[in-house]
Amino acid sequence: TNGMIIKNMSFKVGQTLTIVGVPKSDATNFAVNIGPDEKDITMHLNARFNAHGDENAMVCNSYQNGNWCEEHREGGFPFVQGEEFKILIKFTPAEFLVTLSDGSEVHFPNRMGAEKYSYISFDGEVRVTGFEIK
Ligand code: GAL
Repeated sequence: TNGMIIKNMSFKVGQTLTIVGVPKSDATNFAVNIGPDEKDITMHLNARFNAHGDENAMVCNSYQNGNWCEEHREGGFPFVQGEEFKILIKFTPAEFLVTLSDGSEVHFPNRMGAEKYSYISFDGEVRVTGFEIK
């Protein structure tokens, strides 16, 4: 992780996390990681402009016990380098429902099954300008 880290946070079932940010003008990708601690990620949301063999793709996954699990690809790609975006992540009992600024959605299961996560990190070439849990 080379970006912002938030620890001892409380993101619970029923809440919505809103993230506003701006990818750097030369960004290859950026990611939002939500998990129980610094080692494990229950939801990795990776916007790839040009990274890991993908162009303009939204890739989600979880990371447990030192391994990436099964990738999940869904949603549009309403991101532009240098332009502000907003991502809404609603934590429902069953899943993380992600809404992107073009109205497209990503339904990502809560694979770890916890009702609360306390660690969020941002990776890659992005400046986070807004962060709110409601
Ligand atoms: C890998 C990449 C990781 C993560 C993962 C998601 O290829 O190195 O950073 O994005 O894919 O499945």
